[in-house]
Amino acid sequence: MIKATLVSVLLLVCCCNAGTKTKYPAHNAQDDIKKVASYGSWTWNVSSNCNPACRTVSWEKVDEVGVINVKFTLSGPDVGYLAVSISENEDMGPADDVYICVVMPPANTSDVVITSGYLTGHGPATVTGPVPTQLSSVANGSVSCTFYRPLSVTRNISGTYHTWDVNTGTFNLLYAEGPVTAAGSIRRHTYRAFTHGVFNLFKPEGTGAASSLQAQSIAILSLVVCFTYALF
Ligand SMILES: *[C@@H]1O[C@H](CO)[C@@H](O)[C@H](O)[C@H]1NC(C)=O
Ligand SMILES: *[C@@H]1O[C@H](CO)[C@@H](O)[C@H](O)[C@H]1NC(C)=O
Ligand SMILES: *[C@@H]1O[C@H](CO)[C@@H](O)[C@H](O)[C@H]1NC(C)=O
Ligand SMILES: *[C@@H]1O[C@H](CO)[C@@H](O)[C@H](O)[C@H]1NC(C)=O
Repeated sequence: MIKATLVSVLLLVCCCNAGTKTKYPAHNAQDDIKKVASYGSWTWNVSSNCNPACRTVSWEKVDEVGVINVKFTLSGPDVGYLAVSISENEDMGPADDVYICVVMPPANTSDVVITSGYLTGHGPATVTGPVPTQLSSVANGSVSCTFYRPLSVTRNISGTYHTWDVNTGTFNLLYAEGPVTAAGSIRRHTYRAFTHGVFNLFKPEGTGAASSLQAQSIAILSLVVCFTYALF
């Protein structure tokens, strides 16, 4: 009876270990991306210092009356505009889904406009229109912009349809900030950063759900070892 209980406890401990120790390919291991545990969202800490302000990109899935969207929040210094791109590589173009948050002049007002569009290469984004649901704040030299994006977006770029499905696909995130003209149009970025190696936005740093055969083999092997240990 005691032995049976002990075996069960050991098995339980071993099973949990086999589950939590599972590792997945970490394509973006060098990027500072952390899960905000209490919130269920991911935050990419874009720059290694908070000068002149911290720069972060956060995202989480939100269920709005049965429709799953991704809520993105872009934060950075109040210099003009902040932008984030969902890219298949680490560079602008050939086809990136982009979101631009502009603090309309004069600076330090809270008049923020968020638009979406696409990038085909180095140079200005082609803006396709405003993003409907958005929140923003401008305070103490920092800007925070929140917008909602469907899990999957398809755009017609010069007759070719491109789809960015962040639920199933792997991408890099590009961050950029820069000045705007007196009329509110964006100028060339003065600061940019990108993640390294495409990853699934909801499985960064290899911490996602079971997917790789190798990881499963390791889990099974550690279970076998546990069983052997528990029985003898
Ligand atoms: C980002 O990382 C830097 C360096 O570790 C840290 O000083 C800063 O506070 C972090 N920013 C945020 C918003 O967590
Ligand atoms: C701005 O800074 C002041 C003083 O440091 C602080 O009291 C206030 O809460 C800050 N506002 C925001 C929105 O962070
Ligand atoms: C906005 O206000 C902050 C202080 O709250 C200041 O540091 C910054 O230079 C101002 N930005 C502009 C463009 O005037
Ligand atoms: C897609 O883009 C091409 C070229 O810009 C245009 O000719 C075509 O009408 C567009 N298709 C749709 C369905 O809007």
